[in-house]
Amino acid sequence: MKVIITGGTGYIGSHTAMEMLGANYEVVLIDNFSNSYPWVAERIATLSGKQVLMEEVDLTDADALDVCLARHNDAAAIIHFAALKAVGESVEMPLRYYRNNLIGLLNLLSSMIRHSIPDLVFSSSCTVYGAAENMPIDETAPLLAPLSPYGATKRMAEEMITDLASANRIRAVLLRYFNPVGAHHSAQLGELPIGVPNNLMPFITQTAIGKRKKLMVFGNDYPTPDGTPIRDYIHVTDLAIAHLKALQRMLNGKQKKSSEVFNLGTGKGYSVLEMIHAFEKHNGVKVPYEITDRRPGDIAEIWADTSLANKELRWHAQYGLKEMVTTAWQWEQHLQTEENLNPEEVSK
Ligand code: UD1
Repeated sequence: MKVIITGGTGYIGSHTAMEMLGANYEVVLIDNFSNSYPWVAERIATLSGKQVLMEEVDLTDADALDVCLARHNDAAAIIHFAALKAVGESVEMPLRYYRNNLIGLLNLLSSMIRHSIPDLVFSSSCTVYGAAENMPIDETAPLLAPLSPYGATKRMAEEMITDLASANRIRAVLLRYFNPVGAHHSAQLGELPIGVPNNLMPFITQTAIGKRKKLMVFGNDYPTPDGTPIRDYIHVTDLAIAHLKALQRMLNGKQKKSSEVFNLGTGKGYSVLEMIHAFEKHNGVKVPYEITDRRPGDIAEIWADTSLANKELRWHAQYGLKEMVTTAWQWEQHLQTEENLNPEEVSK
């Protein structure tokens, strides 16, 4: 059975491709390489020992996308990751985010209907809950005002997909990720931030290896036990497995509604300082850091109630903090050995 993965050479897309191939799906990757590289597709093929079809298409190019989906109209489903995801950048360039994330999705939805591809798995985010107060948060929590244009695009995308599913034009699963971290156990796939990383884990690994002088911890005056913000970090392989399970459930007709929503986290929150100290302890390296001002838009704490995904998808996050920090470190060390793959070099 053929499955299309947009953003297939990106961080979560590449790990999901590995799980899909492992479950014997035929995989077509679509990417415009705006934040990833063609060699990732080759690496997925090598690691999995399976054939991988790579299509270079920008989803905002409706005609090119339609030609591509016409070629793959035998696909059973699409897993849609392709989107911009830097929160700070979205505040500075909101139209870029609306254009890329929403017009890209609109084109994808129109084209999948035109070519009778019935099922969609969508990459959403816990950011749709906004500055929620009651933790852990479950899927019935109200969606508060978005904290950034990035958050607004995820919220609007969920609404577009839900409306289309309600009109019985597609079936959909919306997966709300908490904070994905870690890398493939082979150390051959992982996150490749271009330029200065926005997210905590790549900043930690780049500081540990000496690419960055020190990590800035954005505030220690939050109402949390050690004063630093708490997040629900989840291993990227656990996320990838959840995509496989959600897709299989939909393809097997087990969905209870035309569109369903699941939180994907571990259900356990860790503070920024806990992450740094776990990284140091499990990897035996130091991470120099300094406490600075709060980052605008950050909330004090958020972690998931994952019972719905546990029950309905028969999925539980398997990997703990140790695997998250050790695989992230192995990947950073591996990157250093592959000069040609160094994103800093490629982006120059
Ligand atoms: C944000 C989004 C999330 C999105 C993710 C992708 C919100 C509420 N969350 O997550 O939906 O999927 O970005 O980019 O919009 N930190 C530091 N120093 C650093 C970097 C981070 O102290 O150099 C701290 C932050 O203050 C935060 C924690 O680390 O408390 C995690 O930050 P980050 O990895 O950027 O993720 P979120 O902001 O939680």
